[in-house]
Amino acid sequence: MPTLSASSLRHLLGRWRDDGPALRALAGRIRLLLVDGRIASGTRLPAERELAAALGVSRTTVAAAYARLREEGLLRSVRGSGSVLVLPATGPAVEPHPLASATFDLTRAVLPAAPEVQEALRAAVDDAADHLRGDGYELLGVPELRTALAARYTARGLPTTPDEVLVTLGAQHAVGLVCRSVLTPGDRVLVESPGYPHALDAARAAGGRLVAVPVTAAHGERPGGWDADALEDAFARTRPALAYLMPTFQNPTGAVMPAAQRARVVELARRYGTRLVVDETTADLAIDPPARSTPFPADVLHVGSAAKSLWGGLRIGWVRADAATVRHLAAHRSPWELGTPVLEQLVVARCLPRLDDVLVGRRRALRSRRDALVAELAEVLPQWRVPGVSGGLALWVNLGTATSSALALAARRRGVLVTAGPRFGLDGEFERYLRLPFGLDVDAVAPAVQRLARAWEEVRTSGPLLRPLEVLV
Ligand SMILES: Cc1ncc(COP(=O)(O)O)c(C=O)c1O
Repeated sequence: MPTLSASSLRHLLGRWRDDGPALRALAGRIRLLLVDGRIASGTRLPAERELAAALGVSRTTVAAAYARLREEGLLRSVRGSGSVLVLPATGPAVEPHPLASATFDLTRAVLPAAPEVQEALRAAVDDAADHLRGDGYELLGVPELRTALAARYTARGLPTTPDEVLVTLGAQHAVGLVCRSVLTPGDRVLVESPGYPHALDAARAAGGRLVAVPVTAAHGERPGGWDADALEDAFARTRPALAYLMPTFQNPTGAVMPAAQRARVVELARRYGTRLVVDETTADLAIDPPARSTPFPADVLHVGSAAKSLWGGLRIGWVRADAATVRHLAAHRSPWELGTPVLEQLVVARCLPRLDDVLVGRRRALRSRRDALVAELAEVLPQWRVPGVSGGLALWVNLGTATSSALALAARRRGVLVTAGPRFGLDGEFERYLRLPFGLDVDAVAPAVQRLARAWEEVRTSGPLLRPLEVLV
């Protein structure tokens, strides 16, 4: 049985305290970590005394927090094994609908594979013949793919040669690799808040100290976007070693950074000696109007991925940087892995010359899925504030009350998996928000939202189990 030590739990809890009673905040944060999957169901928690000592609180506080989780059915005492966290199984559906027994997974902002991928998979098997004569260890990437990616950046207006491209095991791997090779523990890293949780994890894992710049979603006439003063201030005050931004369809807000602000960020990064990384994983997913995002200048590290434009299962991403940086990044791979699989690279290389056509289909799929979700939410949950997004894969919904974690738990029991807002923050904030990806098949939208609405009703009228006002804000 996996066991969490007191110091590991303290690390996961982060800044868990709020203005309310400590037992409530502690129980709320452990609940959130469980619901978000950051602590696996079946994990044994540290003994009360040890956790109390690690957190600098009384044993009574920890005992009361554990008792609260027990009451909620999230913690069980197992004879001889102490206290074990248990996530309730997703409940059976209740409505007589064809999708009644389905579980709707809204924790991932994804689409199924583009139809072109299957054909490319078949062709790639033949393309692999030449590679089979070599050793197959591709630390930099196969020439076909590096060439195709370089051509795409060049066509977008950023002249690029194949030696300025490094192929990685997805964009997340690229971000982790950049963090590990650029950061020295203790370095400041400028990030967005809310931001992409796995990138925040990668920066933290490399020892980065995160500095947050607020980003908001567009609502009605209000455009949303990056707080300009906070950006200036964060650069000037902390002189970050690294800045990680998602300028086009920011995850989770869907915000798009205007051209003038892009230019300003580049200026600031140059002035303060900051390595600027732009993650363009979702940048090709423009829905309306179908505009293509202009690249940043050549001294900015561009991270890209085939995951959203083609298929997540390919696990292909890349970094576009100067040739010396590409070699430096490749040299940092070996402690963890020894290259990217060849066949998957060949599939992406096959698809890239036709990517604009592929994206027409992606756009069509995304538009109908987004519109179906927005319409269903407007009808069934009109009290939620749903932003207007022109691309990307998710809606950053304002629930109006600090109930996101409780809602995620209640939805789970109804077979709808969602990620609560605090997962996108640095310190447990965003309890008022829920990220709802719109990759769900159009037929699944109504049953999923109806179940969310019932979960919402339970949270609003909750009894002792969910206590919406007691989760941390
Ligand atoms: C902004 C952003 N970066 C990186 C990733 C991870 O991409 P990949 O699947 O290529 O590792 C995602 C996936 O959702 C993402 O949204």
